[in-house]
Amino acid sequence: MKSLDAMRNFMRRDQVFEFLIPDTPPDLDLTHGIILYLEGISVSFDGFQAINNLNLYIGDGELRCIIGPNGAGKTTMMDIITGKTAPDSGSAWFGQQINLLKMDEPEIAAIGIGRKFQKPTVFEFHPVIDNLELALAGNKGVWTVLTARLREQERHRIDEVLKIIGLQEESTRLAGALSHGQKQWLEIGMLLMQNPKLLLVDEPAAGMTHQEMERTAELLTSLAGDHSVIVVEHDMDFVRSIANKVTVLHQGTVLAEGTMDEVQNNQQVIEVYLGG
Ligand SMILES: Nc1ncnc2c1ncn2[C@@H]1O[C@H](COP(=O)(O)OP(=O)(O)OP(=O)(O)O)[C@@H](O)[C@H]1O
Ligand SMILES: [Mg+2]
Repeated sequence: MKSLDAMRNFMRRDQVFEFLIPDTPPDLDLTHGIILYLEGISVSFDGFQAINNLNLYIGDGELRCIIGPNGAGKTTMMDIITGKTAPDSGSAWFGQQINLLKMDEPEIAAIGIGRKFQKPTVFEFHPVIDNLELALAGNKGVWTVLTARLREQERHRIDEVLKIIGLQEESTRLAGALSHGQKQWLEIGMLLMQNPKLLLVDEPAAGMTHQEMERTAELLTSLAGDHSVIVVEHDMDFVRSIANKVTVLHQGTVLAEGTMDEVQNNQQVIEVYLGG
């Protein structure tokens, strides 16, 4: 009886199934080639101005590096984009149409903004491949999981992502047995399972060996184009190896913006950040 009810419910014509909703909401409007607009953003914590009239524009498919001294507001900026922190003033738009300041954290994740924190948060006691599957299951309804054709697509996506993150050979190993660098890549892979349009990556090179850094640079570079990527990083060699355009934050605002050479030769940047 119960299953009959479930069946009837499933057959209802007015039902909107999650798997019929396109992954990219139709209203992510990129007609001006800009995926993220932050304008006049300010936020203070107990009177301390962490972000101060910040203006930042990220192009569709761009890979942008953000650098700046400790406390410059880089992580806070990511908190604002992802809905973790509400700014006191300013505006934040995803494409032309989506007002991020009207959405909460899960909604922002669901419209295609993925964030990787510094510390990897993989499921250590599950194989690599399960981690990727779990990342997908996380935000899909039960019907998606039960639909054979979608599972085939999922398999395909998992293979694709394993290839992108270079962990094909490790797919059956427990995530806990991976090196620090491999865990970071797996976590990027878990984000990719949800196919975000914009990826925020905070200090990906921290704690990595030189070789792992090189692989990470390749990985992030390969994501640009299909995705827009914002990378916050302190390691200047790493930034140089991936950077196209660099934004320097200082005291919560943009101090300089340009190519790596331009910002490294900027007198103000040298004084506040690169001097030492
Ligand atoms: N939730 C909060 N409550 C109080 N102060 C905060 C909060 N979040 C950030 N801050 C303060 O805002 C300033 C900016 O911090 P933020 O973490 O954004 O800097 P950052 O550029 O990411 O620095 P780092 O390079 O060290 O990671 C710091 O002085 C920090 O102490
Ligand atoms: Mg930070």
